[in-house]
Amino acid sequence: MASCLRRYRHWILCCCSPCMLLLTVYLYVTIALFLTMKHSAHIGGPIVYPVLPQNFVAPHPGNFFWRTQLESGALWNFIQHVTDRQNNPILRPGLATTANLSTNSNETAMSTGKGIGCSPNYEIISKIPDYSTLPTQMKKFVTTMHCQDYPLIIDPEDVCDHGPLAKTQAPLLLLAIKTQTANLENREAIRQTWGRSGKVRGQGGRKRLVRRVFLLGKTEDLHNEKELQLEGNEYGDIIQWDFMDTFFNLTLKDVLFWGWFSRHCPHAHFIFKGDDDVFVRMPAMLDYLLQEEEKANERLSKESTQPNKMEGFVVGDVINNAKPIRNNENKYYIPGSFYKGFYPSYLGGGGVVYSGSLAHRLLEVSQRVHLFPIDDVYLGMCLKRLGVSPIYHRAFLTFDFTKEESKDPCAHHTILLVHKRSPAEMFRLWAETSVPNSECRNVMLRV
Ligand SMILES: *[C@@H]1O[C@H](CO)[C@@H](O)[C@H](O)[C@H]1NC(C)=O
Ligand SMILES: *[C@@H]1O[C@H](CO)[C@@H](O)[C@H](O)[C@H]1NC(C)=O
Ligand SMILES: *[C@@H]1O[C@H](CO)[C@@H](O)[C@H](O)[C@H]1NC(C)=O
Repeated sequence: MASCLRRYRHWILCCCSPCMLLLTVYLYVTIALFLTMKHSAHIGGPIVYPVLPQNFVAPHPGNFFWRTQLESGALWNFIQHVTDRQNNPILRPGLATTANLSTNSNETAMSTGKGIGCSPNYEIISKIPDYSTLPTQMKKFVTTMHCQDYPLIIDPEDVCDHGPLAKTQAPLLLLAIKTQTANLENREAIRQTWGRSGKVRGQGGRKRLVRRVFLLGKTEDLHNEKELQLEGNEYGDIIQWDFMDTFFNLTLKDVLFWGWFSRHCPHAHFIFKGDDDVFVRMPAMLDYLLQEEEKANERLSKESTQPNKMEGFVVGDVINNAKPIRNNENKYYIPGSFYKGFYPSYLGGGGVVYSGSLAHRLLEVSQRVHLFPIDDVYLGMCLKRLGVSPIYHRAFLTFDFTKEESKDPCAHHTILLVHKRSPAEMFRLWAETSVPNSECRNVMLRV
């Protein structure tokens, strides 16, 4: 340093070279660290998403998650914002695990009608300025959206094993099919074709256990309701709840089914949730799910830190960046006074598959997500709050083939699922795909 002072003209060299050297070393270490982390995250095939706390609240795109004021005047956004805040582990560390929709504070209680049971909440009308101009189904939805709990009318026994064998005899796949009382023909076709209950053979020859339930609300047609009771007695696959089976009440079937599942079939490995007008190539589906399970088991043996290998598994036809339909003639119409912004990524509801462990988490998070009239979007909202990204698979065709694709005589041999097919088509496709002709025998699954 003494020499430095003497030859002050060289001070730059003396003092700054160490600094520059340190800076270079620092930059080098940072980049090296960054590259290693990036690299290791991709080892072992598919990206493994970090396990997030269950009350994780994903930030809205473009919004800050700690924002405390909400300027948009949309009812759902407002009441959900209040609930998200109550469950935000950063804003309320102590309350994070206990607050849920039924234990809400005054604030939400007032806006959602909690505390008045399941009778209609007419106070909420004042929160929607254009209420009187809304379509009837929207009006009905708004005044009953605080109720997520309806009793069972038909509750099938023994869909899954109880007792000591419940876990080892658990089905690989539980089919949960949304249907309506009048669609007897669809249910019959499903029972006799792709939706058979029992040991079902995959394409690879392995047999796996499949169970089936149909999900229904009630109607005002007393004759049909009586018939449904008898059907339930005969097949033991009917679950019916005490709410009106309307389009905007379909979300209730998901939420109530998650509750039913956790009580009656909690060990099923996978759940197929779909409509009664889809066709599923079941042997291929079983093979696909077995493969996914094996892959997850391999991952598990490599990195034993992951407690549950499949708890974020949900696959189907993923729809991104969708916006609410604002045409009030449309079946899916959602007014701006009810919901603003984009929908989260969601899966086409014709048919999706998720793991049993995810179903348990969905049940829990559904207690903190206000009902939404469109069931597919509601599932997306729940997944977002669990930090789960749905997996897109090209073989889930919830919007059918393109014209070009449908000309291929082997088209149906390349898929896992296609929406929409009539009962007659289900019989034909089942016969065709179960014993493929020589031309279609070796076609590959769409990936
Ligand atoms: C939600 O509230 C109900 C009613 O107080 C309570 O029984 C339940 O345990 C709560 N659930 C969670 C996940 O905190
Ligand atoms: C609860 O709401 C009522 C109005 O309905 C209000 O008078 C009361 O102060 C509120 N209590 C709390 C603790 O916020
Ligand atoms: C949903 O079912 C409940 C209970 O039956 C009913 O009060 C409500 O009007 C229904 N909602 C819609 C949108 O139809």
